[in-house]
Amino acid sequence: MENFEFVSPTHFVFGRGAEEQVGEKLAAAGAKRVLVHFGGGSAVASGLIDRVGASLDAAGIEHLELGGVRPNPEITLVREGVRLCKEANVDWVLAVGGGSVIDSAKAIANGACVEGDVWELFETKALDHDVLPIAVVLTIPAAGSEASKNTVISNDELGRKTGYANNAQRPKFAFMNPELTFTLPPFQTAAGLTDMFCHLLERFFDDVGAVPVTDNLNLSLMNTIRAEAPRVLADPDNYDARANIMWAGMLCHQGLAGVGRHEDWATHGLEHELSALNPAITHGAGLAVMFPAWMEYVHTENPARFAFYGQAVFGLTPTGDVEADALSAIDETRAFFAMSRDGLIPQSVCKIHPRFATPHRITIIVGIAVAIISGFTPINVIAEMCSVGTLFAFIISSIGVMVMRRKYPDLPRPFRCPAIYVVGTLAIVSCGYIMYNLSSMTWERFWVWSALGILIYFLYGYRHSRENKEDAA
Ligand code: NZQ
Ligand code: ZN
Repeated sequence: MENFEFVSPTHFVFGRGAEEQVGEKLAAAGAKRVLVHFGGGSAVASGLIDRVGASLDAAGIEHLELGGVRPNPEITLVREGVRLCKEANVDWVLAVGGGSVIDSAKAIANGACVEGDVWELFETKALDHDVLPIAVVLTIPAAGSEASKNTVISNDELGRKTGYANNAQRPKFAFMNPELTFTLPPFQTAAGLTDMFCHLLERFFDDVGAVPVTDNLNLSLMNTIRAEAPRVLADPDNYDARANIMWAGMLCHQGLAGVGRHEDWATHGLEHELSALNPAITHGAGLAVMFPAWMEYVHTENPARFAFYGQAVFGLTPTGDVEADALSAIDETRAFFAMSRDGLIPQSVCKIHPRFATPHRITIIVGIAVAIISGFTPINVIAEMCSVGTLFAFIISSIGVMVMRRKYPDLPRPFRCPAIYVVGTLAIVSCGYIMYNLSSMTWERFWVWSALGILIYFLYGYRHSRENKEDAA
């Protein structure tokens, strides 16, 4: 077991109606003027912000509001919060929301106590300043920021998302009412479950051997999350399931589950880069894709540890082949992140954000169709058909990339190819010229293929809209 220091000053108020104690508890702690910080709308729509405001009023605490924190919070709003705190002499920051709101509040609480730009702290990691005390009303169990020492903030201008750790920014109060999480959409519930599970994996798989006291706590949390996940997804208003998940989310990341270990955090670092590239990517969904891939990459370093994890968490029976057992454990992890047959969390990068999704099922179906047909058709005919298809696909892709570039001028590479309009136009003209010279028989085949493609497209669209309707219901 490695040496460690562990600080956890958070006072938890857990259970139904917890948020109604905000005013009383903050007044007792000496709060006079509070900045209430919240997200894009859920806390306003549910009336939570009004309830919290009423609680502060009743305790005679002045308060001002700053909403609009987006998921993957950004430094611009943090700067705005810092300005407000300095101008209004704010003495406490109250975050009402999830990890994004809490992280933004933590950054504000730091920035309010330093002279220069708050982003400097994310570069220098300086610790020699005061931090305004922070309280939290949690609305989503996921990031564990309600008790953690970290804040993670994006800087869109620099294209970065990075963390800053400081024990002084651990919240002084966390008000946790599981009922506040009933309104979470299934996707956010599933992303949160994945994130908290990954906070355990980051701690469990490092270069330190077994640390039983820590590892057993860690494994018990993994088992709890695995058991409660299906209950909470099947019955979102199940108080007990929500309560277990909410408390687990905190325990996963407040630090105890990793004491005495080095911890890894490579995958979180990678996922933060992904979210920096596209802030629409939900942290937990990014992790669902990246963690099993990371496990596959590193498992050969210590396959026995992965095999042990598979037995302790997924109940796998040892086969005598440690390598095979390790791989089975990774498969189980991937399946769990997909929330089994609910398929709520994507398993491949192309599906992390719907806007950039690839209709991979169509690609597979067309591939299988081509493979079957090629068994009965002379190879030269296949080659001819593919070449028309390739030319056409090339034209469509060229147009698509140009349109996308116009619509989203900040798209990263490979869409950021220089002289894209020249290259795209040349591609379209040259492909068009070749297609113009094709024989009529080739064209007939081409139209047959296109009709098949259109049919599959509509079938896929129909299924997709049906799935969306089911999700919304
Ligand atoms: O903005 P609103 O309208 O509130 O909607 C939010 C948001 O769209 C919604 N939501 C939250 N509570 C809700 C709700 N919708 C309905 N009902 C409710 N009760 O959920 C969406 C996601 O919220 P967000 O705060 O972004 O979720 P999460 O808690 O997963 O936080 C993610 C952020 O935390 C960082 C991540 O990088 C990411 O930026 N992390 C912070 C850590 C830390 N400080 O220790 C560690 C983590 O590993 C993580 O990196
Ligand atoms: Zn995380």
